[in-house]
Amino acid sequence: MPLQIETSRLSLAPFDPSDINRFVDLANDRQIAKMVMSLPHPYTNKHARNWLAQQQSDNDNTDLHENLYLFAIKDSDSGFIGMISLNRVNNAIFELGYWIGRDFWGKGFASEATKAVLQWAEEQLGIKAICAGYFADNPASARVLEKSGFLRTGVKTTRYSKGRGENVSSIDMVWLGET
Ligand SMILES: CC(C)(COP(=O)(O)OP(=O)(O)OC[C@H]1O[C@@H](n2cnc3c(N)ncnc32)[C@H](O)[C@@H]1OP(=O)(O)O)[C@@H](O)C(=O)NCCC(=O)NCCS
Repeated sequence: MPLQIETSRLSLAPFDPSDINRFVDLANDRQIAKMVMSLPHPYTNKHARNWLAQQQSDNDNTDLHENLYLFAIKDSDSGFIGMISLNRVNNAIFELGYWIGRDFWGKGFASEATKAVLQWAEEQLGIKAICAGYFADNPASARVLEKSGFLRTGVKTTRYSKGRGENVSSIDMVWLGET
């Protein structure tokens, strides 16, 4: 199925390798690394090249290519501004993850991208349940998830943040689809 989503302001599509330098500029930000699980900090060009090579190899592997749906987020004025993904946790559930470059925070972009990916997942993949977790000190992400229709599961746990190098209190949420 096409990995292409258009919203009123954004275009979501597979990562374009020509955006790699801009990707590194935006991703090499402690305020982003500390709020996600898997981004090392500092984040270098070498990290990005390895990441890209891994994505390409996974895409070529028929057993793996349906485990991760990864979209680069572009805005028509600024080009590449962030990433959003659905990562298969098990046969039934995908997990949502995202980040937006700091210069573009507070404009509603994460919420717009999230709502679009949820609708795409429901229509294209037939997914009815998506989970997401946010670190307890990340109210902006909590708000994005709430605005997008996620509910708190009641589960509080800890997850490892590569950027912080430690386990961090985390709150789990779930989205159960529109229909
Ligand atoms: C979290 C993140 C994706 C939000 O991106 P964004 O494009 O600014 O998000 P939006 O503009 O769509 O929505 C942000 C909401 O959080 C609110 N918010 C921002 N900072 C907040 C704070 N400190 N306390 C409470 N609410 C806050 C905003 O007011 C907005 O809500 P509103 O529309 O009701 O006013 C972005 O800050 C980011 O990439 N952070 C680092 C990585 C990250 O946290 N990823 C998610 C991991 S779970």
